[in-house]
Amino acid sequence: MSDGSPPAEELRTARLSLRRPTEADVGAILAIHRDPETCAHNPSDALARFEEAELLYRRWDKQWQQHGYGYWVVRRHDSAQQLGFCGIKPMELHGSPVLNLFYRFATSAWGQGFAGEAAGAVTAWASRQVPDIPLIARVRPANVASQRVAVRAGLRRAQHLDTEGYDGFDWIYTSAARTARPGN
Ligand SMILES: CC(C)(COP(=O)(O)OP(=O)(O)OC[C@H]1O[C@@H](n2cnc3c(N)ncnc32)[C@H](O)[C@@H]1OP(=O)(O)O)[C@@H](O)C(=O)NCCC(=O)NCCS
Repeated sequence: MSDGSPPAEELRTARLSLRRPTEADVGAILAIHRDPETCAHNPSDALARFEEAELLYRRWDKQWQQHGYGYWVVRRHDSAQQLGFCGIKPMELHGSPVLNLFYRFATSAWGQGFAGEAAGAVTAWASRQVPDIPLIARVRPANVASQRVAVRAGLRRAQHLDTEGYDGFDWIYTSAARTARPGN
């Protein structure tokens, strides 16, 4: 039974609440991923149809069920409007387990420090709750805003880990002092 405290997966910052997505967020998932500007650097993430957004929501939800963490919906404390999404996904980089930091916000929310604030909260949560797995961000070289968010979240550029991604060459940012590539 609830004791009135927020669920473990809910994060709060000065201005923002981050909570696990529900089915009710599918419309916002579509709206944000259908806007060509939000996927300009990562066109493989773009969505066109509601059914695609539903499938993406189900993938996000399955990861929450399996791991107890995933992508959070970000909104202001005093508003139900979804500003964007920010979270972590387990994956492999050069054969080693990592948590990939993700953020994507509605264009109407850009430029107000929301992504940096949310990414900082997620990074802090991951370093407390999943300390053994390094956090990384994979950023397209021309995506300066994303690079700034990664740095604001405490990640550092790790050129030796750069690699091909889904949409071309990715620059890697990491929380680890040194994440070795196999053979190094
Ligand atoms: C990346 C993104 C989340 C940034 O959102 P945001 O809320 O505007 O970011 P913030 O306001 O927190 O700004 C963070 C930093 O980026 C800088 N910045 C924001 N937009 C910028 C731009 N277009 N060019 C250069 N720097 C920019 C800010 O000045 C700030 O810098 P600072 O840390 O030195 O103060 C947003 O642009 C977005 O959703 N982009 C599309 C999705 C995407 O590319 N995700 C990343 C995939 S790797």
